[in-house]
Amino acid sequence: MVKHWENFLAPYKQAVEELKIKLKGMRSQYEMQSIHSPIEFVTGRVKPIASILDKANNKNIPLDKLSEEMQDIAGLRMMCQFVDDIKPVVQMLRSRNDFEVVEERDYISQKKESGYRSYHMVIKYPVQTIDGEKKILVEIQIRTLAMNFWATVEHSLNYKYRGIFPKDIELRLQRAAEAAFRLDEEMSQIRGEIQEAQVIFSRKKEQKDSD
Ligand code: GTP
Ligand code: MG
Repeated sequence: MVKHWENFLAPYKQAVEELKIKLKGMRSQYEMQSIHSPIEFVTGRVKPIASILDKANNKNIPLDKLSEEMQDIAGLRMMCQFVDDIKPVVQMLRSRNDFEVVEERDYISQKKESGYRSYHMVIKYPVQTIDGEKKILVEIQIRTLAMNFWATVEHSLNYKYRGIFPKDIELRLQRAAEAAFRLDEEMSQIRGEIQEAQVIFSRKKEQKDSD
């Protein structure tokens, strides 16, 4: 049984490791050109077995259909400073030719009832194995730092209360979601100023490093 899971998850681990390097590489390319990177940082994980089983159970997914019906066994997250950075990142992902985009879900124009905002892409990623090529589904979530902050906190509270929030917590989370939204708006408005400061800062840093 354990061996079976190890075999099943191996290509997912491979995909997450490869994609972390590839997507982080996009960030370094911007840095090298000294232009604002729409990507702040990238994380990735393979869903723990316990969570796979929980979700399969909740969603009535038969275990022999996991690879087709559970899209987030392999998951990547790309964090952006500004809401306006998200579109260019999405476009870049669409234009890559090392994987195929199979689905997109825009929870930014249309936030979820919980207050959750993010842009989701599901891709089909080819992993080269010793038994030939294996295409697996990977979910990429693209979001701002503020969206990420909210989602991370909400996720831990969700875990704590098992999805059933006390009324006051639910209210606070909604207010926090609104605050995160306003923070994103404020940041967009002063974006020009911020970027100027960052360019000056990185020039100073370059100078210092070369001293
Ligand atoms: P899942 O069964 O969770 O995959 O939902 P779905 O098939 O409708 O896909 P969706 O794009 O809505 O959500 C996929 C992932 O987005 C989840 O596994 C979470 O990582 C994230 N997500 C979606 N909704 C929420 C939310 O309300 N709060 C938080 N913290 N994360 C969310
Ligand atoms: Mg899903």
